[in-house]
Amino acid sequence: MRHAAFTPLVLVLVLVVCACQRSTPTAAPSGAAPAVAVPLAPEAAPPPACTAGTPLLSGIPGSPGHLIKSSRNPNGDSELAALMRKMQDDLNARRDAVLAGRMVEPLGAEHTQKLRCAWPTEASMRKDPFDRLAVAYIESVRGFNEATTAEDQRMGFGLVVNACLTCHQSSCPGPIAAIQKLDLPAP
Ligand code: HEC
Repeated sequence: MRHAAFTPLVLVLVLVVCACQRSTPTAAPSGAAPAVAVPLAPEAAPPPACTAGTPLLSGIPGSPGHLIKSSRNPNGDSELAALMRKMQDDLNARRDAVLAGRMVEPLGAEHTQKLRCAWPTEASMRKDPFDRLAVAYIESVRGFNEATTAEDQRMGFGLVVNACLTCHQSSCPGPIAAIQKLDLPAP
C-alpha cells in the first residue's frame, strides 16, 4: 500500500519588515559609567556639554525657519541633520586608516557636545529614547577617543558605528544603509 508521501512545504517566511522595529539593546557602556560627563583632555577649553533639558535657542542656524542651506536637501538641514552629516564625514575620514590598523585622530567635540541639544527637524524627536541613545553614543565616542592602541581604536570605531545604528533603528531608519557602509568587516 503506497501513500503518496506528500510533504507539505511549509514556508515560514519571517519577514523582518522594518529595521526600525528591531530593538537591539545598546552596547553596554563599560561598568563604571561616570555620573557626569566631564571630557578630560583633548580640546583646550571643552565647551559645556548639554543635556535633554538644555533649552534650544530660536533663530540659530538649523532651527525652525532657519534651516541650513543644503545641496542635498532642498528644504534645508536642521541643526541635527547637519551635525549628523559632520559625524558621518568624520567617521568616513578615519575608516580606511582604522581598517589598515593605523592610529587616527580622536573624534572632535561636535560628537559629544551638541548631540543632545541640536534642533531636530521634528521637535518631538528630542525626548526618550533619542536622548538615552544619544548618551550611549557619547559614551561610545569617549571609549574610541580614549583608546591608546590601533586595536582598541578599531574596536571603539565599531562600537561608535553600532551606537549610530542603534539610535537609527529606533528613531530614523532612512540612513541605516549609509551608516552600515561605515562598519568594519570582522577582523
Ligand atoms: C541618538 C540618536 C542618533 C544617533 C546616535 C545618530 N543619529 Fe543620525 N540621525 C538621528 C536623527 C533623529 C536624525 C534626523 C535628523 C533631523 O532630521 O533633524 C538623523 C539623521 C542622520 C542622517 C541624515 C541627515 C540628513 O541629511 O537629513 C545621517 C546621514 C545620519 N543621521 C548618520 C548618522 C551617523 C553616521 C551616526 C553615527 C556617527 C548617527 N547618525 C548617529 C539620530 C541619531
